[in-house]
Amino acid sequence: MNRTVKTAVLISGGGTNLQALIDAKAAGKLPHVSFCAVISNKEEAYGLVRAEKAGIPTHVVKKEKGRQEAFEKKLVEILESCGAELIVLAGFLAILSEDFVKKYPERIINIHPSLIPSFCGQGYYGLKVHEAALSYGVKVTGATVHFVNEIPDGGRILLQKAVEIQEGDTPEILQKRVMEEAEWKLLPRAVEMVAAQLCAEEEAS
Ligand code: GRF
Repeated sequence: MNRTVKTAVLISGGGTNLQALIDAKAAGKLPHVSFCAVISNKEEAYGLVRAEKAGIPTHVVKKEKGRQEAFEKKLVEILESCGAELIVLAGFLAILSEDFVKKYPERIINIHPSLIPSFCGQGYYGLKVHEAALSYGVKVTGATVHFVNEIPDGGRILLQKAVEIQEGDTPEILQKRVMEEAEWKLLPRAVEMVAAQLCAEEEAS
């Protein structure tokens, strides 16, 4: 039996990427991963229901205006109390400060719905990414899983998958195709890859 890497998943919304992780775990595809917490910055996030159904402890941490430090302090408290070793941002829309990110070098993973370095960085989130891809007229887009560092969407790339743009695509249609064809497949693979690597490094040391 492998040791598992305790993983916390941070969400803000529907949580379909979280669901992909839950389903991959149930299918035996994440042997090095266990989920210790799902944290949302929105109490109405449907992802919280998905986590509860899967038996993962849930937490809501809301950011009050101008209270970034207090927000992150609460996040760190939860992460420490559940012993999180890996943090997955799965559609987490709150900004994390440089100080927070620096506490967890190569321990925070994010999924972004484009092929970085296209359509990424400040202001590129949710549908805006797909709107930008369509208005530029690219023929191929996709998704990227990467480590998070202090540069928005600038950390080391772990996995990428291309998705073709089709005639008549709207941002909503494209968003759905990128999720189905790329995000839901890539995120579980990347999380398992990093967790397995952490376990292997530990064994070698
Ligand atoms: C996804 O498109 C993800 O790439 C982006 O936010 C969306 C989250 O969707 N960062 P969900 O909450 O996982 O359904």
